[in-house]
Amino acid sequence: MTLLKVDHLTKNFGGLAAVSNVNLVLEENELVGLIGPNGAGKTTLFNLLTGVYEPSEGDVVLSHSGKETRLNGMAPYKIADLGLGRTFQNIRLFKDLTVLDNVLIAMNSKHKEGFLSSVLRLPAFYKAEAEMKQKAVELLSIFALEDKIETLAKNLPYGEQRRLEIVRALATEPKILFLDEPAAGMNPQETAELTDLIRKIQKDFQITILLIEHDMSLVMDVCERIYVLEYGRVIAEGNPEAIKNNPKVIEAYLGGDL
Ligand SMILES: Nc1ncnc2c1ncn2[C@@H]1O[C@H](COP(=O)(O)OP(=O)(O)OP(=O)(O)O)[C@@H](O)[C@H]1O
Ligand SMILES: [Mg+2]
Repeated sequence: MTLLKVDHLTKNFGGLAAVSNVNLVLEENELVGLIGPNGAGKTTLFNLLTGVYEPSEGDVVLSHSGKETRLNGMAPYKIADLGLGRTFQNIRLFKDLTVLDNVLIAMNSKHKEGFLSSVLRLPAFYKAEAEMKQKAVELLSIFALEDKIETLAKNLPYGEQRRLEIVRALATEPKILFLDEPAAGMNPQETAELTDLIRKIQKDFQITILLIEHDMSLVMDVCERIYVLEYGRVIAEGNPEAIKNNPKVIEAYLGGDL
C-alpha cells in the first residue's frame, strides 16, 4: 500500500531548480535509497517532504488511516505529528544535554497531553515519566548507547552522535523515517554496524525508510529500491542491481565511487 506520494514536485531557489518535477512513491514498510552527486537536490527533497520548505510546484500526499492528507504548506511540527521523522545531514543534537535528555525531549513532543499532570506533579506524571525513561533506555540500547545515558551529547564520539540522532527520530514514533547521510564521517566498521541497525529497525518497528547516503555499499546492501537524482531530476529508479548497471547512473557518477 502506498504511504507517501510525491507528485511533480519542484523547488526553485531563484533561477535554480534544486528539485525539478520529481515523482516518487514510498510503499508501506519499504526501505528505499535516494542517491545522487553532491548538489543533486537530495536534502532539498527531504526539506520539502518534512515541511522545512514549501514546494514551488507539485504535491506531497500522505495516505494514513484510510485518508489522504496533502502535506505541502503544513508546518514541520504538524508533519512530524502525522508520523514523518527525520535526521539531519548536519547533526542537530542538544549538545549540552545528556544522551537520555536528548531522547526524552523528542518523546515529550509526542506526549503533550500529560501537560496538566506534569505541572501539578500528579502520580500519573511520575508513572508516565518512568515509562518514558524506560522506553528511551530501551531505544538507546538497540543503538548500543545504554551505557552513555548520562554522557553529554557533545562528548560522544561522532559515530555515536549520528546514532543518537536516529534514536531521537525514532522516539517520535514515526511511520516514515528520513535519514540524511547517517553514515557520514563513520569508519567502515561503524558503517557496517549501522547497516545492520537500519535493517533491524525497519523490520522491528515496521516503518518505511528513505535513506540518503553516499556510501554505495550501504545503499546497495540495504535498499530494496533506489531513486537517483541528478540536477534535481530523477534520472533512474529501480532495484540495486538495475541501478548499478544503469548507463545514466554510471555517467552521473563518472569519476565517483559507484
Ligand atoms: N536554501 C537554499 N537557497 C539556495 N540554494 C539552495 C538552498 N538549499 C539548497 N540549495 C541549492 O540547491 C542545490 C541542491 O542542494 P542539496 O543540498 O539539496 O543537494 P544534496 O543532493 O543534498 O547534496 P549533498 O550530497 O552535497 O548533500 C544545490 O545547488 C544547493 O546549492
Ligand atoms: Mg544533502
